[in-house]
Parts: sequence; structure tokens; C-alpha cells
Amino acid sequence: MEELPQVYFRAIEKISRLLTEGTDFRQTMYNVLVRLARQTGMKRGMISLYRRDLEEIHVDISYGIPESRGPVFYRLGEGVTGKVVATGRPLAIPRLDREPMFLDRTGARRDIDRSTLAFICVPIRYAGEVVGALSVDRAARDADLKTEVAFLEVVANLLAPQVHARRVKDENIKLREALGRHGPLGTIVGNAASMRVVAEQLQQVADSDVTVLITGETGTGKGLVAAEIHQRSRRRKDPFVRLNCAAIPENLVESELYGHEKGAFTGALERRIGKFEQAGGGTIFLDEIGELPLASQTKLLHVLEERRFERVGGGATIRAAARVVAATNRNLEAEVSAGGFRSDLYYRLNVFPIHLPPLRERGADVIMLADYFVKKIGEKQGRPIDRIDSSALDLLISYHWPGNVRELQNCLERAVLLATDGVIHGYHLPPSLQAAEGGEVLPEEGRTDFASLVRAYETTLIVEALKKSRGNQTRAAALLGTTKRVVQYKVSTYGIDYKKFAGINVGDDR
Ligand SMILES: Nc1ncnc2c1ncn2[C@@H]1O[C@H](COP(=O)(O)OP(=O)(O)OP(=O)(O)O)[C@@H](O)[C@H]1O
Ligand SMILES: [Mg+2]
Repeated sequence: MEELPQVYFRAIEKISRLLTEGTDFRQTMYNVLVRLARQTGMKRGMISLYRRDLEEIHVDISYGIPESRGPVFYRLGEGVTGKVVATGRPLAIPRLDREPMFLDRTGARRDIDRSTLAFICVPIRYAGEVVGALSVDRAARDADLKTEVAFLEVVANLLAPQVHARRVKDENIKLREALGRHGPLGTIVGNAASMRVVAEQLQQVADSDVTVLITGETGTGKGLVAAEIHQRSRRRKDPFVRLNCAAIPENLVESELYGHEKGAFTGALERRIGKFEQAGGGTIFLDEIGELPLASQTKLLHVLEERRFERVGGGATIRAAARVVAATNRNLEAEVSAGGFRSDLYYRLNVFPIHLPPLRERGADVIMLADYFVKKIGEKQGRPIDRIDSSALDLLISYHWPGNVRELQNCLERAVLLATDGVIHGYHLPPSLQAAEGGEVLPEEGRTDFASLVRAYETTLIVEALKKSRGNQTRAAALLGTTKRVVQYKVSTYGIDYKKFAGINVGDDR
């Protein structure tokens, strides 16, 4: 990096102080621009945020630019700012009048002699990703552009965490709006990048008649997504009918799907209306489609192609008007190769695939979902929960969730029942989660006998106390309201390595 003159150091010092003191994002950022103007001779300044979901760069905060022109934004790659965000590289323009790329979309420099102005724009990066841009203009004649770029890059680094946080907040609001527009708000909780893709796909496909195939491990929300698709389609006033292909005996599948006439087979005492007919012009949800017997696959393919069917044992032809949504937790492509699933039916269903990622790949969504569930369950059970403590959050985050969202929901239902003070603690979570973090000192997965539970419970309490006391057993004992002897005894019988807590710093509970 270039050597920075003293004046820049003072500006950096001031700016970092503004950033730690400020509480309101816009006000803080504005103050930073004011500081840049006062101390470094900047004339105009802009802080822009890159919105991934819109692929647009929004000028969020500006200094020295008239406000009256309404929102200003650039597409990715458009203008100087768009280029900087797209490439992640700073741009410095010595004289604005010679730069065709410069758009002056804010209109601030319309009546100014541009030959007197230099313009510098640097990316704002956070965690390796460009989250926005900082740009300034200053008098062309006294600009040392190289130093200026180096300085502004330092400032951009200082701004980055707050710009990032702001952007995440904006995107959450946007996502909630998108989800809330059609169905009841918050039926699908999530903000992982992979879930945003799902939200987008939902939006794209819901209002069409296209067949959708939803894939994903058990408990990832396939049923929920199917219902959402129906809710957001123009068929929402018509029935949503689900058939669980795994739950019906092979010989009854067709009667379930298409219905039967009285006397069609032994036991067909009455005429029966099948799921396709029940769904009418609504949506038929073929859940666990991978379990459909081969013979039934052939018939289903035929119905989907012809868009009509007959009841079993009946003559009249009925139109199959329902929209088809199917789901499976199997890998249908592999099933096709193995001969268990007809390839032509697979292609017929897989017109618009939506894949739900496993919960362990959704990052912080675990926490978002946990907050959502404890609130919902707490209200339903009349046991309001204020918070989930850090020991419980640690366990939730480090667990691998083979049963995905459903397993998380079940865990928290149990935890809400066990909670006594409106707080979910680590020891309210099942032993299988404790095992994942604590290693061999905790009960093996699935062990739920009394002794194992007590052991898990005690271990969690002691580990939590040791974290707080940084490995000091006397203080841990005081926190637990017991004696040091008891703590020492448990530490040695449970094989807890108290020394490893000496260096750790536990943040406050949220
Ligand atoms: N993103 C989410 N937000 C809120 N609730 C969710 C979410 N994903 C799943 N759930 C809830 O978790 C439970 C399991 O979801 P769902 O039944 O849709 O899973 P699935 O993928 O169909 O599982 P399976 O393959 O076992 O049938 C449901 O109660 C559902 O409402
Ligand atoms: Mg399901």
C-alpha cells in the first residue's frame, strides 16, 4: 500500500470512531462522508449498496448531491460504479470530462466544469464479496490518485461490516415481502442463498400450469413448498389434494388416483371419486412419487400425456385438469438408471425441478428457523419463550440435522415443554445433539435411558459453567451453587477437559 499522509491517518481515526459510536446506519454513513469532505478535500461522496437479489447497485447515502432526483441505481457493470462492483477493482478517473464511462446519474455535476474534477470509486468488500462501493470526487488539480485510492480502500474496509449488515437487512425485508405477497407471511422461513433461489423459483413457477418436481432429503420442506405453489397460483380457490404414494397398497394406487365404479373389483361396494377428480381444476400433489409402482407409473404417464382418464371399471372419460406437483426424497435419476422409475415419466415430471438443500447446508437459517419455531410453539402451548441461550445455539449450529427442518421442529417442541424460565438452554435439547458436540463424554446417539440423560444434563451444566469461569472449577462450582469437590468429581468421572476452557471467551447470550 502507498504511504499515507498524516491527514489521512487523522481522518481514519475519526471515521473508525464514528463507526463505533453511531447507532443509525444512514446517519453514521452520512457523518463519515461529512468527515471525508472536511478533512480530505472531497467534494461529493456516495456510498452505494450492491443488491444481489436485484443485481443492482443503489446509491444509498450521498453527500453534496441534490436529493430531489429520487432513487439512483446502476445495473451491475453499468457506469463507473457498476464496473467497480462487477470487477471488484478500484477505478480512478483524473478528469471527468474525458471519461465516457462516467454517467453522472445523480445529475450533481450537470452545471459544473467537469474538467476540474477527478473521480475515485473503490469497492467495499466483506468476507471476500463485493457488497458496495464508495466513491468521491475531488478537485482534479491537487489529486494524488494513487494515494487517494489507497486511503479510500482503507475507509471502505472500515465501512464494510456495517454495509454488509445493512444489505442483509434490506434483502430480508425484500424476501419477506416477496413471500408475503401471496401466501400467509413466513410460511417458508429462510435466507440462505440456496433458499433464496428456491423463493425465486417459487415465484417464477407458481402462477403457471407447469409441472413441478420437488426434491430434497426428508424434512426439508417439500410438502410446505408444494402447498405454497398452490397458494400462489390462480388455482388457489380450487382444491389442493395430496396423495402419498408410499402410503397406499400397490393394488389400490389406481383407484386412489382415478377412482372406481361400484363393482369394479372385489370390495368396490360404492363408486369412489379419485384424487384427480377431487382436485378438479386445482392442484394434485403426488408426494413420494418415487414409491409409485412401475405399473402405475405407466398409467400415470398416459394420463399426464392425454390429460384424461377413466375411473377403474368405468366408461366415461374425465378430463384431468389439475396441475401436477410431485415430490420425492429419492434420487430419481439414479432410480431411472436402476430401472425402478420410468425415464419418460421422469422427464414428464421434471419439467421444473425445485431442489431443497439439506438444513446443514443452510448456514444461519438454523437459527432463524429455531427462533421462528420457539416463538410459534411457545405461543401455541401458552409457554412464551424469550430466547435461546448460547449453549443451545452452539448445539443447534454444530449438529448435522439428518432429519432436517422436521427434526429441528421436533427438538424445539420438546425443548419448549422442558423450559421453565422462558429460556431454551442446551440441556433442553436431546442427547443426540449433545453427543455431536461433546464427543465421547456424552451419551451415544439415541441413548435415552435415565443415567445417560442425567449424565448429559450434568455435563452440559458443568461445561457451561466452566466456559463462563474460563476453566476455573471453584468459580464454576459457585455458579452452579455447589462445592468444588462435586465439580472436581464430575469433571473427572465424566472426563471433562476443564483446562480447554481457560482461554475461551464466551460472548453474551443473545
Ligand atoms: N423453511 C421452512 N420454514 C418453516 N417451516 C418449515 C420449513 N421447512 C420445513 N418446515 C416444516 O417442517 C416440517 C417438515 O416439512 P415437510 O413435511 O414439508 O418436509 P418434507 O420435505 O415433505 O419431508 P418428507 O420427505 O419426510 O415428507 C413441516 O412441519 C414444515 O411445515
Ligand atoms: Mg413430505
